[in-house]
Amino acid sequence: MPVSIRILLVEDNPGDARLLREYLRDVALFEADMVHVDRLEAARSHLERSVTDVVLLDLSLPDAQGMATVAGALASAPNVPIVVLTGLDDETIAVQAVQSGAQDYLVKGQVDSTSLARAIRYAIERKQLDHERNLLLRREQEERRRAEDAVQARDEVLRIVSHDLGNSLSSILVNATVLLRTMPPGKPVSTEALGQIRGIREEVVRMQRLRQDLLDVASLEAGQLSVVKMMTNVLDLLETARESIRPLANEKGTQIVVEAEEDLPDIFADSDRLLQVLGNLLGNAVKFTPPGGSISLRGDRAANGVQISVRDSGPGIPLENQANIFDRFWKVREGNQFGAGLGLAIVKGIVEAHGGRVWVESEVGQGSTFSFEVPAAP
Ligand SMILES: Nc1ncnc2c1ncn2[C@@H]1O[C@H](COP(=O)(O)OP(=O)(O)OP(=O)(O)O)[C@@H](O)[C@H]1O
Ligand SMILES: [Mg+2]
Repeated sequence: MPVSIRILLVEDNPGDARLLREYLRDVALFEADMVHVDRLEAARSHLERSVTDVVLLDLSLPDAQGMATVAGALASAPNVPIVVLTGLDDETIAVQAVQSGAQDYLVKGQVDSTSLARAIRYAIERKQLDHERNLLLRREQEERRRAEDAVQARDEVLRIVSHDLGNSLSSILVNATVLLRTMPPGKPVSTEALGQIRGIREEVVRMQRLRQDLLDVASLEAGQLSVVKMMTNVLDLLETARESIRPLANEKGTQIVVEAEEDLPDIFADSDRLLQVLGNLLGNAVKFTPPGGSISLRGDRAANGVQISVRDSGPGIPLENQANIFDRFWKVREGNQFGAGLGLAIVKGIVEAHGGRVWVESEVGQGSTFSFEVPAAP
């Protein structure tokens, strides 16, 4: 607190001005170094020329009235605290003035030396706090912006690399396929060589999937995942999803049962995207369920549409892991070589892009059930 406080009193009523000057003279806590003007214009030119610690501002002046007075003072000195002086009849305006930037108000006729001194000190402190808070806020916004820029730059790199990778992968795949088809007739090809070429093809297909997942996660992050919704029959969707995963499930001796409640309503959805969701959920179910297990795929009515569930008889997921399971790159066991940990993040993104939600219910040793809801067609 400065020992001497530079006060600008803006008041056109000489009686009020005299009274305030007398009150200030009685203040013991600080010495009031006061300048008095009676017009807003004069106040503004003073504020622009001289350092002022606080403004005592009458709201009704010959050249400005009400809120315009506060706005005018703030425009000339945005960092100087303002205490508004008001009559009993316009207290509402005084409250508005405080809401739009003044620090406090005093009702004329109810002021004494103590309340005036206190209002001045608090106004200065409050403005100082405001100022510091704004600085912090600005610094925080700046940091957030920098972090967002960094994330954007990283996603851009991810997008470009993934994109370019696509061309190389396609070319490897085409070449391996051509090689398989054009093995010279008559010349016996060793099963070993055939196996190696098939191996190349399978690996490329996996890399293509990973690449697509990375692209999808980047689009999700940027809020740019495309969904094209159309009327979609749920049972058809479930059957198609089962057919796509069947070869993999057969290989593991896992059975997939499809069941649907009768007369399920159609949903308004992007069927390719929902097949991607089901592909991920069924893929996980097959991947994590030991051979010989069973998987059920169900469609049921829900409050706002249709609920689709994938239940498996696998190892289950510990409760403490269930909250993180939909985060990208998240896996229960670090370092398991089963996947990148992107599938469920994509599932969640796609379901939410449909206005739905996804969740898991699971108990260790009892299997897992992943369910999602999609709104019915309007
Ligand atoms: N049906 C399930 N049973 C047991 N654990 C599961 C099941 N589904 C997912 N998990 C656990 O959740 C983790 C995250 O699954 P998610 O599908 O996101 O990634 P991923 O399958 O490991 O890799 P990706 O899908 O990218 O190939 C898995 O690594 C696994 O630990
Ligand atoms: Mg997965």
